[in-house]
Amino acid sequence: MIEKQNFFVAPLAGITDRPFRTVVREFSPDASLVTEMISCHSLVEMHKNCPRNFDHYETEGNIGTQIFGANVQMMADAARILADNGAKWIDINMGCPVPKVATRANAGAYLMRNHKLAGEIMRAVVGAVDIPVTVKTRLGWDNEHIDWRELVDIAADSGVRMVALHGRTRAAGYDGVAIHPDVHDCPIPIIANGDIKDAADISQMEKLGYSGVMLGRAMLGAPWKLAEINDGVIPQDVGAIVLRHLDLVIDYYGARAGVPLFRKHAAWYSAGCQGAVAFRVAVNQITDVAELKDKICEFWGCVAKI
Ligand SMILES: Cc1cc2nc3c(=O)[nH]c(=O)nc-3n(C[C@H](O)[C@H](O)[C@H](O)COP(=O)(O)O)c2cc1C
Repeated sequence: MIEKQNFFVAPLAGITDRPFRTVVREFSPDASLVTEMISCHSLVEMHKNCPRNFDHYETEGNIGTQIFGANVQMMADAARILADNGAKWIDINMGCPVPKVATRANAGAYLMRNHKLAGEIMRAVVGAVDIPVTVKTRLGWDNEHIDWRELVDIAADSGVRMVALHGRTRAAGYDGVAIHPDVHDCPIPIIANGDIKDAADISQMEKLGYSGVMLGRAMLGAPWKLAEINDGVIPQDVGAIVLRHLDLVIDYYGARAGVPLFRKHAAWYSAGCQGAVAFRVAVNQITDVAELKDKICEFWGCVAKI
């Protein structure tokens, strides 16, 4: 049986920000959430245009903060900043495939090609903080280099507590079906990630030896997904959830940045509903919060609180 704290919400850049995490936690207070990835440079140099650089995590329950980078010292320094700000654990990104990270910055998935540097970063981060350190990675760089198992051994030797394994290669990106290898012989707990969406997937992961599961895209437009899987929660008033999420986004980013940023969430919430395409087209043209709220209320037939 997978323990409740081993149900994870995956780090999703531009999505698992504080507003989204707040909504998820209103349904699943015990869930373990991982922040979107944060560049070690951005943290250490405290870039001012990024609100998440100033997040404090003390009140956020079980929350891991994910960092990415290739500079060993900066990764350690960034981990310390996040630990000082109340993170419950530090997750190191060793799977991001986007060129800006993996090929231009030699970070993320690049570390699957350079196990020496990966080990140095893991040891430095583990040594820098008193909280647990985890790693999120993929099967390997491409089908000719499926070497996740070696990286797991390096992680275990470096003091990393757990590895989340996305069942794709860097070359596959997000295409195709995730493949989940048997992990019974791994020296540390492995969390399954990739295409997991329901109880049947989860029980399959248990059989393969995984200690937990991590859901990413299944949470989009469904922040109640973990509560649905674990406790059968089906939200009765989706419009009220969308409005709550929007309010949190506006509080956090301000209306000017928040309204355009919320468009993708509005699209995910409405996906599959009748009239979703017209709703999406309309929302994409709205720049005013009140107008957006009206549109949401009209679509879901709810009433916005003033
Ligand atoms: C929009 C988007 C943003 C992502 N951002 C991150 C990230 O910041 N850090 C990370 O380790 N993985 C990131 N991922 C990968 C996911 O965490 C996850 O590994 C992947 O989506 C597979 O899981 P899923 O099938 O449950 O979505 C991202 C994926 C998507 C689609």
